[in-house]
Amino acid sequence: MEYGERLARPHFLDLLLPLSWPSPQDISRARFRKRWTKFVAMLMAERRAMGKKEGAPPRDLFDLMGEARDPETGQAFNDEQLGDEVATMILAGHETTATALFWSLYLLALDPASQEQVAAEAREAVASGGLHLDRLKFTRAVLDETMRLYPPAFLIARAAAGPDTVAGLPVRKNDVILIAPWILHRHEKLWSQPNAFIPSRFMAPSPPPDRFAYLPFGVGPRICIGAHFALVEATLALAEIIGTFRVTLLDKDPVTPVGVVTTQPDRSPLFSISPR
Ligand code: HEM
Repeated sequence: MEYGERLARPHFLDLLLPLSWPSPQDISRARFRKRWTKFVAMLMAERRAMGKKEGAPPRDLFDLMGEARDPETGQAFNDEQLGDEVATMILAGHETTATALFWSLYLLALDPASQEQVAAEAREAVASGGLHLDRLKFTRAVLDETMRLYPPAFLIARAAAGPDTVAGLPVRKNDVILIAPWILHRHEKLWSQPNAFIPSRFMAPSPPPDRFAYLPFGVGPRICIGAHFALVEATLALAEIIGTFRVTLLDKDPVTPVGVVTTQPDRSPLFSISPR
């Protein structure tokens, strides 16, 4: 958040100075990067200090990555590579799902009827043996619809591998193209009532959305590697939270999304929760 709110934003000196001259912002960015790398190294050292019994099954992704070997060379990740993976997982794997859960709680607080439907679905799932995904179709649709309205990754960037033409416009090699799920997901030509929260549009008998109109996880060979994990995790978490608590918003002013790496709320609105 600190990086996104301050250093990730373009500064006028970034535009003014030639690229080869580091701006004062670039120096602060480098300092931040050092601090972040040290923080990740500390996390890894703490985990290693906790130890793991020889031969015990891996507890999580960190253990799995520590034990992984390149099938061709037999080499393990070195510390720098492992650190990069840890840093990626913190942002790509944690912040995105947390953001999706925040907006789904916000939307459900504004739509008590949908919230009751999630609670009823969770109750019925528990009564029939537990929170299993095939019993949580509406809860899942709430997440799909939340990520349509508030895609955690609001922008996806690509550098052109070669010259091309896109929508009649010439693209040169290395041109950077920005694809905005935010815009696609609210486009009037692609969705009916684009700004309304209607989870049932993601359930049968509604047809599934066009593959290129809905891309909360991107599309193509670089599609999110954690999409399935995120959907399972978020659906179960939402069913558990809403099945246990009634969530209401105390703060009546609308919350505005801001793009700070992910689609963040402009403030932390106050919610109230009461046991069901
Ligand atoms: C709601 C949750 C999530 C959203 C909205 C999301 C979104 C995305 C998007 C849009 C991309 C593609 C970026 C691009 O094309 O440039 C991506 C890539 C990626 N995501 Fe996720 N993600 C989520 C959860 C996760 C989780 C839980 C993990 C890991 C456990 C994860 C790990 C990754 C990784 C490693 C990549 C890069 C894949 C590659 O380049 O091959 N994400 N994610």
